[in-house]
Amino acid sequence: LVAKYPWDMKNKFGSWPYVAEMVADVAPGFGANPDEIILSRNTTDGLCSIINGLHFEPGDVILTTHHEHIAATSPLNVVKHRFGVEVVEIQLPVFTGIEEVTQQDYIEAFREAIEAHQNVRLIVFSHITYKTGTALPAKEICSLAKQHQIPTLVDGAHTVGMFDLDFHDMDCDFYAGSGHKWQCGPGATGILYVRDNGNRLNEYWSDRDNPLWLINSSLSHADHLGKQLQMQYIGNDNYPAKQALVESCKMWDEIGRDRIEARILELSLQCKTQLSYALPDAKMYSPNVEGLMSGLTTFNPLSDVTDKERLTLFRDRLREEYGYIVRTTSFKVHKDDAHQTHALRISTHLFHDERDVDGLVEAIVDLYYSF
Ligand SMILES: Cc1ncc(COP(=O)(O)O)c(C=O)c1O
Repeated sequence: LVAKYPWDMKNKFGSWPYVAEMVADVAPGFGANPDEIILSRNTTDGLCSIINGLHFEPGDVILTTHHEHIAATSPLNVVKHRFGVEVVEIQLPVFTGIEEVTQQDYIEAFREAIEAHQNVRLIVFSHITYKTGTALPAKEICSLAKQHQIPTLVDGAHTVGMFDLDFHDMDCDFYAGSGHKWQCGPGATGILYVRDNGNRLNEYWSDRDNPLWLINSSLSHADHLGKQLQMQYIGNDNYPAKQALVESCKMWDEIGRDRIEARILELSLQCKTQLSYALPDAKMYSPNVEGLMSGLTTFNPLSDVTDKERLTLFRDRLREEYGYIVRTTSFKVHKDDAHQTHALRISTHLFHDERDVDGLVEAIVDLYYSF
């Protein structure tokens, strides 16, 4: 419609009041003010806008983890080479099905890293790691960072649409998420949260004239407009896609984001429990513990977890012969490991039910015994 009626495109969709209406619709569902929400293109776009926009200097340290997605590691690598920043990967505790892990283990890993390094300027971590589907205690990590006056940038690719997020309560500085994953919005849509117009960043980084440069903006010069409007404007945009994202957010709010989170975790628990029961020797990498659990279940039923080829064949046969689509992930349990561990990753969402989980577990078991 927008393409058919260019007059409307210019006068309605391209106009600021229209964008203001969209962010006002989205913000309350995420515990944010409208002027803290930018409708971005995706998580990568949000992470890159912030990481590449921050004013780093040689000798600065950025803390991140050994289980980040390339959407974060790639821009971190750029600032490492561009500014001489030291990027330190924290060894995350990884559940391997034997010893329980707790939220406190994750908090301690961040605390130790903060205390071991001088001049930490930023902490970047995934709210849910895409490798093992572990949910990190984001609020506690942000609180720890705040005590040390370090800004936080959270990769929320999997949480937007899965968890009942409240950015003010979490008290992060930046949060980048996807609209096209668990939020079920159209492709190339995302949500970027920038806390309180970045004021706290000015306080933490009072030694830098301009801590955040808005490089991904056609209004980077217009400070008087505020960060939200400046960051939102990146030239001609795909407003119909953004409107569709807004509609999906409104639908989620109507259903209740707390109910959605509870349902996703319920199905995830069923999936983890049934898999562990049916295949007790399989390696489970997603903790089955409240507070660390997400809608992702990462596990490997095969005896050699380093054999990527065989697991890929298992994944492909699961789709071709049984109709279930899951993906594979690869990660190092310990960051110094010489080998990668490979696993299947299952997503259980709102449009699934108990029978789907039963069917998937049955299919995995059936395939396993004939494999
Ligand atoms: C943890 C994590 N971060 C970032 C991304 C990139 O997401 P997007 O496609 O929204 O940029 C992904 C995608 O799979 C992811 O799993």
